[in-house]
Amino acid sequence: MSNIQQTLSIIKPDAVERNLADEIKSFLIKKNFKIIDNKKIHLNKDEAAEFYKVHQSKPFYNDLCSYLSSGPIVVMILEGENAVASYRKIMGATDPKNAEKNTIRKLYGISIDKNSVHGSDSIDNAKKEIEFFFKN
Ligand code: CMP
Repeated sequence: MSNIQQTLSIIKPDAVERNLADEIKSFLIKKNFKIIDNKKIHLNKDEAAEFYKVHQSKPFYNDLCSYLSSGPIVVMILEGENAVASYRKIMGATDPKNAEKNTIRKLYGISIDKNSVHGSDSIDNAKKEIEFFFKN
C-alpha cells in the first residue's frame, strides 16, 4: 500500500553559499521526491532559536542557532513514498564523516555543523516544521 508523506527539508547556509541549492534540488527530484513548495529566506537568530527549540538543552544550541541564521537558507516541502524516513536516508548521518556514500551530507557536507541539509526526524515534527515555514 502506498504511504505518501510530506517532510521538511532545509538547505543550510553552507550549501546555499556554495551555490549548491539547485544541485541538491535536482538530486532530490532524481530520487523521486516532489518539491511541493520552496523558498529562500534568511532567519534571524530568534526565529532560528524557535525552529531548533527541541535542541535547547544541548550544549551546541547557541552555535546551532547562530549558524542557521548566519545566511540565506532554502526551505522545501518534500513529498514522496515514506518521505520522512526516505529523505533522512538520502541525507545521510548528521556528521558528514559518518555518512554513507552518495548521501547529500557525504557529497556536500563540511562538518557536523555545516552539514548542508536538515530533515524532519518524525512525521509529527514534519507537520510542525512545515507549519513553521509555510503557515498559509
Ligand atoms: P540537524 O539535522 O539540522 O539538527 C540539529 C543540528 O545540530 C544537526 O543537524 C547538526 O548540524 C547540529 N549539531 C551540532 N553539533 C551536534 C552534535 N554534537 N550532535 C548532533 N547535532 C549537532
